Amino acid sequence: MKRRRKTSSALAPASDPPVQAGLLSPMRTVPPSIARPPYARTGDPGPSVLPLIRTPEEITAMRAAGAVAAEILLHVGKFVEVGVTTDKLDQVAHDETVRLGAYPSPLNYRGYPKSICTSVNEVVCHGIPDSRRLRDGDIVNIDVTAYYQGVHGDTSVTFVVGDADEPSRHLVRETRNALYAGIAAVAPGARVHDIGRAIEAHARANDLSVVREFIGHGVGPEFHSALAIPHYFDRRATTVLEPGMTFTIEPMLNLGRASLHVWDDDWTAVTDDGCRSAQFEHTLLVTDGGCDILTVTDSGTVPAEVFAAD
Ligand code: MF3
Ligand code: CO
Ligand code: CO
Repeated sequence: MKRRRKTSSALAPASDPPVQAGLLSPMRTVPPSIARPPYARTGDPGPSVLPLIRTPEEITAMRAAGAVAAEILLHVGKFVEVGVTTDKLDQVAHDETVRLGAYPSPLNYRGYPKSICTSVNEVVCHGIPDSRRLRDGDIVNIDVTAYYQGVHGDTSVTFVVGDADEPSRHLVRETRNALYAGIAAVAPGARVHDIGRAIEAHARANDLSVVREFIGHGVGPEFHSALAIPHYFDRRATTVLEPGMTFTIEPMLNLGRASLHVWDDDWTAVTDDGCRSAQFEHTLLVTDGGCDILTVTDSGTVPAEVFAAD
């Protein structure tokens, strides 16, 4: 049997030291031959103006962009280990993105300085890769978005680094299962709030809280387009799902309370109580019969399944 760290109460604040910001490396560059989203130069994506339903051509491109994002996440996942800096993971992901002919969507999105997000322990989302090294027992979400063939594919996985305590492994495992519970609610004729209802029920049954400040989003030629997908039941989210819609589901679940605050870097969101948070994300297409997960590789590999917590 594998050695496990001492189990602590699921609701007690994390006993390990809080995550602290490290040093940022210089901004990475993308070769001029790679097509960029409009905000890459200015940092400003502007308002969402596109319809909710994608054209057949856009859907074809979304499958390709989703596959590229999944490929990058699979690749960077191989580098997750004790002692690696999150900046190194950013470099690996950036280089792989460029190698595949894609643009790393986060880079200069609203001024974001890096190519992926790396969110460690109590960081809920939008952690900025820096000089901090991963430690035994950490959890880290890696969120990859690739702009390819004019559209974005957006996906993330939370990794367990070395031996983590049982509450952390429970959190990671059930956050992934909550994403899949949300996906199971996606079908034409269902409403957006059916997704959040399923996720919230799964979270509650597993003693986890659901983050409310960050939600899933329409995705396509725009990184974040108009459709809003709460991961909790919101009775106002009555939009009926229709074939051709593409959006993310990306629940953030916490061991402690749901409330969070953002560091003065204006990005890093952390839990108020210091308890850990996990997240998984897929990009989805509503089909005639249900939905397709777009963030899978061309050979059908799903990073969330390869790197699932035991
Ligand atoms: N990939 C994140 C999402 O799931 C967005 C990151 S925006 C960034 O929506 F600027 F922080 F990269
Ligand atoms: Co997203
Ligand atoms: Co994402």
